[in-house]
Amino acid sequence: MELLQVKNLKKVYNTRLGGQQFTALKSVSFEISKGEFVAIMGASGSGKTTLLNIIASLDKATGGDIILEGKSLKEIKDRELSAFRRKNLGFVFQDFNLLDTFSVKDNILLPLVLSGENIDTMENKLKPLALRLGLEHLLHKFPYEVSGGEKQRTAMARAVITEPKLILADEPTGALDSKASAKVLSLFEELHQNGQTIMMVTHSSMAASHASRVLFIKDGELFSQLYRGKDTNREFFDKIVSNLSVLSEGGVDIG
Ligand SMILES: Nc1ncnc2c1ncn2[C@@H]1O[C@H](COP(=O)(O)OP(=O)(O)OP(=O)(O)O)[C@@H](O)[C@H]1O
Ligand SMILES: [Mg+2]
Repeated sequence: MELLQVKNLKKVYNTRLGGQQFTALKSVSFEISKGEFVAIMGASGSGKTTLLNIIASLDKATGGDIILEGKSLKEIKDRELSAFRRKNLGFVFQDFNLLDTFSVKDNILLPLVLSGENIDTMENKLKPLALRLGLEHLLHKFPYEVSGGEKQRTAMARAVITEPKLILADEPTGALDSKASAKVLSLFEELHQNGQTIMMVTHSSMAASHASRVLFIKDGELFSQLYRGKDTNREFFDKIVSNLSVLSEGGVDIG
């Protein structure tokens, strides 16, 4: 069954000055099955974050529909949206979005606190996750006391602790060096092997080569897609790189 259906999605921004309009998404349609790990690539400004934010219900579409497990996001009332997001979605933002006055532990537990979990359940979920992500010795530190890679792993832990149906990540390795990136990607691979559905925006062909499918976006439209099939990461990487050169023909910057 399709976990996510994106149907003729359109987004027009009204710019503040001059009352001009900008069409960031023209008519984007695709589906993601349960358990897929999908990477989204495209030049800077092509509409990737716009797409992710609308799927995350952080922003509203101008037209079209998003359907998660058969339910249209349009049917969800505004006052139910944050509970819906907490229950179904996990986010990893490029700038981590951690709360500075909360410890690493409290940041990770935040979505569970908001949904009213009891302390024992929270501790039981936290322990194995912190171990797996190498955060167990950092739980009482604050975000400004840990490294960029550790902040990113904290953000990952916060995104997955609720066992969301869909994980949405916007350039999760964008701010990291290659070693920290590799840790983040191996966690995604492991989650994917355990059946987790993941959507990850990335500029990095290396990061995308871990996915099972790559969607390429150009000027607010779906341009093409690549399936991994039986390719190794290396073989898939080579295909992604040559697809990007086709995508960028005409001098578009790939970022
Ligand atoms: N609030 C806004 N008002 C007007 N235009 C916007 C707004 N947000 C984004 N845009 C425009 O919409 C287009 C798509 O933006 P988006 O952030 O989705 O791009 P992106 O593919 O994520 O780029 P990047 O790789 O640089 O993050 C850009 O041209 C951007 O300038
Ligand atoms: Mg973006």
